[in-house]
Amino acid sequence: DKGGWSSFMAKEVSEEPEAVANTLRGRIRDGAVTIPELDGLDDLFTGISRIIVIACGTAAYAGMTGKYALEQWARVPVDVELAHEFRYRDPVLTPDTLVVSISQSGETMDTLMAVKYAREQGAKTVSICNTQGATIPRESDAIVYTHAGPEVAVASTKAFVAQITALYLLALHIAGLRGTLSADEIAVQAHELEAVPEKIAHILATEQERIEQLAHWMGDTRSVLFLGRHVGYPIALEGALKLKEISYIHAEGFAAGELKHGPIALIEPGQPVFVIVPSPRGSAVLHPKVVSNIEEIKARGARVIAIAEEGDVAVLPSADEVLRIPLAGPLFEPLLAVVPLHIFAMGLATAKGLDVDQPRNLAKSVTVE
Ligand code: F6R
Repeated sequence: DKGGWSSFMAKEVSEEPEAVANTLRGRIRDGAVTIPELDGLDDLFTGISRIIVIACGTAAYAGMTGKYALEQWARVPVDVELAHEFRYRDPVLTPDTLVVSISQSGETMDTLMAVKYAREQGAKTVSICNTQGATIPRESDAIVYTHAGPEVAVASTKAFVAQITALYLLALHIAGLRGTLSADEIAVQAHELEAVPEKIAHILATEQERIEQLAHWMGDTRSVLFLGRHVGYPIALEGALKLKEISYIHAEGFAAGELKHGPIALIEPGQPVFVIVPSPRGSAVLHPKVVSNIEEIKARGARVIAIAEEGDVAVLPSADEVLRIPLAGPLFEPLLAVVPLHIFAMGLATAKGLDVDQPRNLAKSVTVE
């Protein structure tokens, strides 16, 4: 039931605040992170020397985002691997490796086979999944459910923000067990997480119409580029994937630091480029670098759409459009910056008259290789 929305995707994007809130529910108490499903399973986390995150598509971008938090908070080295690449290359797995799989459906064949393989090799496995009783969680040592609710549209939206939320909870849980963050430090981050749903709701309330308008004007666009840095990088990849997937427009996401290593050659007059700008307060080092990327592409004629924190005026001279997100700590910006990109992809597909829920050639869950 679309509940009065024009599509399941529109409904599911509108549910992004609840997807985060429901994934947090019952898991933060007085600033402490307690994940009831992981009770009695401390051994999975205390002796590990590395983490490998495996997933496909959007879930893999959630994993890439989670890597920053896992490394920063839990001080464990993290690799993020596409499940189909992981399982066919004889990866080195030891009992002190924790494999974290991420899957909305819990049925993605490549992810399932990678989890089974990891277990056979003696690694520990935790699954982050949105579907109760699905196959991947059944094959794992532990499960952290995302509570995004059923996702019907083929393109993943609310599950993505819920996956990042679950990874951040897991990262804080591991940090607590390993003593890499103090209780006070965990409380600060937990508080930031709890503030996310309201901030997403604010973006939906204040920016949605403008973004849809912008998408409408861009109905004839043939190519869109996305640039981001640090946690903004996986968000750039996610913005590009969503646009390809539902609006059939060529789109690429790049790490902003790569610009001079090739992608800047693509910039010609009129080329639309979304740039995810890190907060000037939170990322004093990276903010000016991304602003200078904007100036470089603007000088070559790009049409720049910046996603920037409220009050960041440094982007104003060179950006053609600025989409605003509320203030948040650096690691929490991706949960906000992705929302305009989901709205944009949906808006552009709608402007082209496409079925946003059922894009051509795609299935909601990929249970074959
Ligand atoms: C993109 C999308 C896909 C899925 C991928 C993994 O919008 O939906 O890229 O993220 O197929 O699916 P799950 O999470 O079910 O394993």
